[in-house]
Amino acid sequence: MDLKKLFGLEGKTVVITGAASGMAYSATKLLLELGAIVHAIDINKIALPVEHAYYADLGNKEEIDMVIKDLPEKIDALFLCHGIAAFPGNELKVQKVNFYGQKYMAEELLPRISDKGSVTFISSVGGFGFEQVYSDAVELIQIPTWDEAMKWYETHPDKIQNSYVFAKQCLLSYVTYKCMDPSYINRKIRINAINPGDTITGLTDDFNKSTSPTGNKEEGAAMIENIFLKSWNGYAAKPEDMGYPLVVLGSNICSYVSGQCIYIDYGLTSSWKSQALLNGNKKTIEEISSDSQK
Ligand SMILES: NC(=O)c1ccc[n+]([C@@H]2O[C@H](COP(=O)([O-])OP(=O)(O)OC[C@H]3O[C@@H](n4cnc5c(N)ncnc54)[C@H](O)[C@@H]3O)[C@@H](O)[C@H]2O)c1
Repeated sequence: MDLKKLFGLEGKTVVITGAASGMAYSATKLLLELGAIVHAIDINKIALPVEHAYYADLGNKEEIDMVIKDLPEKIDALFLCHGIAAFPGNELKVQKVNFYGQKYMAEELLPRISDKGSVTFISSVGGFGFEQVYSDAVELIQIPTWDEAMKWYETHPDKIQNSYVFAKQCLLSYVTYKCMDPSYINRKIRINAINPGDTITGLTDDFNKSTSPTGNKEEGAAMIENIFLKSWNGYAAKPEDMGYPLVVLGSNICSYVSGQCIYIDYGLTSSWKSQALLNGNKKTIEEISSDSQK
């Protein structure tokens, strides 16, 4: 069997964001290996031999609009991967970079995505329990314009206090809500997300700092280890542990997979789900994940 044919990405036009580092960097290397024509976007230097590298702040509407103008007229697979950590004061920026800008890009580019093409996001295990905010997320998703959405954020500051988690939960809500929307399903465009667990990437330092209440890297690293690794005597993932499944999900190998939010965490969130089910869903996800730190 010809494995390149199985992926079906040879000669296909692919757009990927966040390609300068981490998961999307490893995904881009695999896409190139598979013969895809890769258009990569980042705010930082992309040191890979892609067809075209574009530079933009993908949390900024004007910069997104400029990049969209320059992207190819036909796109077979779109991978939206960029993201930042949350710190006090950057709540709105986190929404724009980690969710709203990605929703906006997906919808602006949708007419250019080929029939049976794919849109694949990187959300996070941080989005676990998105069902709890689903109705708020869908309210936001249904808002038709960028400016009105920014007003929604302004008038709902309480919703974005836990800003990284809310943005990732919105991404998962988006996949769930939109997979059968006529704009996607009428042309059989698949839409999915991966939810990585703890992975060593360019974001690791920022995650460590942002997790500690005092911004202390070592303390944050210990807290992350307690939440994500201790209960299963586990280890952090490598970027390719996420980047490769991401490519598979957006490729022909997964030609019948849509509307899925796939946790890549060695089963950690399934164990949280099991605890919730055994508790009659009485415990919140926060309670369960804080139990797992003990
Ligand atoms: N590392 C983890 O443990 C982990 C866990 C769960 C989810 N994630 C998610 O994985 C995705 C990939 O991140 P990573 O861990 O590979 O980190 P990374 O920092 O190595 O890669 C993220 C990339 O996004 C780019 N980027 C950030 N802000 C941008 C902006 N405004 N405009 C354009 N590009 C921008 C960065 O320059 C970088 O190249 C992110 O969405 C992140 O939230 C990471």
